[in-house]
Amino acid sequence: MPPEFRYSPARSGNTTGSHIPPSPAQSVHGRRNSTHSGQFVNDYVSKAAVYEQLQGSLRPLIRGQTDFLANISNFAALLFNSLPNLNWAGFYLLRGTDLVLGPFQGKPACSCIAIGDGVCGTAALQRAAVLVPDVHAFPGHIVCDEASQSEMVLPVFKEGRLVGVLDLDSPLPARFDEIDRDCIQQLLQTLMDGTMVPEFRLAPPTQSRR
Ligand code: SME
Repeated sequence: MPPEFRYSPARSGNTTGSHIPPSPAQSVHGRRNSTHSGQFVNDYVSKAAVYEQLQGSLRPLIRGQTDFLANISNFAALLFNSLPNLNWAGFYLLRGTDLVLGPFQGKPACSCIAIGDGVCGTAALQRAAVLVPDVHAFPGHIVCDEASQSEMVLPVFKEGRLVGVLDLDSPLPARFDEIDRDCIQQLLQTLMDGTMVPEFRLAPPTQSRR
C-alpha cells in the first residue's frame, strides 16, 4: 500500500490567485464528494503524486523572481496550504549563532532559537533533517503551538552553505516520514536553485558540510 495523504477540507479551497497554478490539493482531485460532516471521502492520493504536483506548482511560482524573502514566503505558504495536517510551516534563518524567525504560516512562534536548541537548533547544528514523531519525547523540544504533536525540521542550504531551517509541525503524531523528508528536500533544492541569498544570511563557508 502506498503512503496516503488525507486532505483537510479547510485547506483544499482556492487559495491561489489566477496567475498562480493550482495547489496539489486542488489539482490532484478532479472531483470531490463531501459527507454531511463536511469531510471529503474521495481525497486519498499517494504522497509521491502530491509532491510531484507541488514541484509543478513551485517552479512557476518562483519563475522570474529570485528575491529571497519573496520566494521563501511563498514556499511556506505553498506547503502550508497544500500539505494536509500541518499547523505550522516556516523558516528560521541563520543570524550568527542563532536562528531567527522568518516567513511562516501558523500561530505566532518564538522569535529566536540558539543553534543546538530544540528541534530547529539541532537540525541546524547537525546540518541534517530531524524527524520527531512525538515532540513530547524530544529532549529540549521548544513549544510554540501546543497543538503540535510531531515535527520535521530540514536544514536549508545555498550552494552548500547553511541559510537556516524549514520547520513543519503537525497536530498528528508521527505525521512525517522519510518520503516527506526526501520530497521536501527536493522542493527546497528547487527553491534555493532559483533564489538569490544575501551574503549576510549565509553561514561562513568553513561551517558548511555539503
Ligand atoms: N518546536 C521547535 C520550535 C519552533 S516551533 O515549533 C514553530 C523546536 O523545538 O525547535
